[in-house]
Amino acid sequence: MADTGLKTLMTMDAVSKGFNGKGTTIHVLKDADFRIDRGETIAVVGASGIGKSTLLNIIGTLDRPDSGSVAFQGQDLFSLGDPALAQFRNTRIGFVFQFHYLLQGFTALENVMIPGLIGRKSKKSIEKQALSMLERVGLGSRLFHRVEDLSGGEQQRVAIARALVMKPDLLLADEPTGNLDQQNGRAVHGLLDELNKELGMTMIVVTHNMKLARMMDRCVTIEDARIIPAE
Ligand SMILES: Nc1ncnc2c1ncn2[C@@H]1O[C@H](COP(=O)(O)OP(=O)(O)OP(=O)(O)O)[C@@H](O)[C@H]1O
Ligand SMILES: [Mg+2]
Repeated sequence: MADTGLKTLMTMDAVSKGFNGKGTTIHVLKDADFRIDRGETIAVVGASGIGKSTLLNIIGTLDRPDSGSVAFQGQDLFSLGDPALAQFRNTRIGFVFQFHYLLQGFTALENVMIPGLIGRKSKKSIEKQALSMLERVGLGSRLFHRVEDLSGGEQQRVAIARALVMKPDLLLADEPTGNLDQQNGRAVHGLLDELNKELGMTMIVVTHNMKLARMMDRCVTIEDARIIPAE
């Protein structure tokens, strides 16, 4: 039954997702249920290949499940067509990937403005928001640097600013510190923690880093194609 309560942000009901290999199908998720409350922080942990990215891609609507439903504030997402789903992602979800996928040759500011430009916001208002978000992540003095001239940690902070510029309801991060050294990793951990505490941002973070996982309210993993609490 759809839960439209204020506390629940998202629910996954009996979601299955498999991939066809050579003559076999890998069932990554099978009748998996999951619930995300508003304001909570969740770590997704576990061995390589268990389906963490697959789960995140379905929650973020980058990938459609084979069966089952995903509801956001009670709305069944996968009954929407691709354009509506793209708009949902643009306004409601922020993504941070292990490899930041910033646009080379463009400045930090331009990169952070892109989601707003895609969302057809006025250039002035999106520039203002992008500026304040870059300041928020400690890059106020790097606005006009091209992203390839920034350090790895700075690039990841630009990616976080880009993920947050539309003020999403949910931040999804897939190994956000996987490619950073310890010091830059710690800076990104601190930033994620602040974002939750100060903005009440709901976030799901896939990580192999136990320090980051322990900072989250709860940890889950995938076992037998279901989502279960992790130790
Ligand atoms: N597009 C695809 N086509 C075929 N198989 C896929 C596809 N995407 C994922 N898989 C398979 O599904 C399983 C889960 O993959 P997924 O990327 O979700 O794992 P993961 O837990 O994120 O791993 P890692 O920690 O290495 O990133 C793997 O066995 C993978 O090979
Ligand atoms: Mg992965």
